[in-house]
Amino acid sequence: MKYKRILLKISGEAMMGDQGYGVDPATVDFIAKEIKEAVSMGSELAIVIGGGNIFRGVEASVKGIERASADYMGMLATVINALALQNYLEKYSIPTRVQSAIEMKELAEPYIRRKAIRHLEKGRTVIFAAGTGNPYFTTDTAASLRAMEISADVILKATKVDGVYSSDPFKDPSAKKYNTLSYIDVLKKGLSVMDSTAISLCMDNNLPIVVFNLKGKGNIRKIIEGKKIGTLIRGDNGTRTKKRH
Ligand code: GTP
Repeated sequence: MKYKRILLKISGEAMMGDQGYGVDPATVDFIAKEIKEAVSMGSELAIVIGGGNIFRGVEASVKGIERASADYMGMLATVINALALQNYLEKYSIPTRVQSAIEMKELAEPYIRRKAIRHLEKGRTVIFAAGTGNPYFTTDTAASLRAMEISADVILKATKVDGVYSSDPFKDPSAKKYNTLSYIDVLKKGLSVMDSTAISLCMDNNLPIVVFNLKGKGNIRKIIEGKKIGTLIRGDNGTRTKKRH
């Protein structure tokens, strides 16, 4: 196994499948099966989930809702997704805990770093909801932050395409796929992988990111096994040596 402790970032849009809105049961069922495969290999899996299938904070702020309020609404959307995903994971007998960065004790545990790590050590999948709990931070940044906090070996960033391209492959047929990239390349070339705060945080801590297509069956398992799937983003000196807490 190349990676043991993994932070999987799933966008809210990934939950909606082709229906364009909300939570598509067949899609979430597929995601749950992919996760089951990863967990049964013995990996420790934490998940950060977005909320764009329910509410897009940035768009709402453009349309007149104050940015901070719009972002809080987006954070609530991630809690809905987290509960949906937990439900599907439990259908496949994956013990799962949801921790929310905004306290709502009736629905989920509050985010407590040490408790999250303990859950992972006990083989439970942990879903981090409500982003970082702060407006102006994306769920990608939440993924980087939580990955650092739990000493993850890698961030798996799930997308609709099979890696990072030089331009949008849906619009530009000459777009070229990168197999590896350095953090600085991503920032300099302005590649839309994650926002710059999220990338910078990974760069400062030398945490590798693998960008991959979630729709590809077995992709998560293959990445964990060390197969070359998607695009690997890392420092110029390769991967880091890491202290585990
Ligand atoms: P251990 O302490 O390692 O045994 O972990 P555990 O999560 O099984 O035990 P705990 O007694 O902390 O939790 C039992 C159940 O209650 C789990 O499903 C938790 O997710 C849930 N739980 C724990 N704390 C909270 C909370 O503050 N709010 C909500 N809604 N659920 C909680």
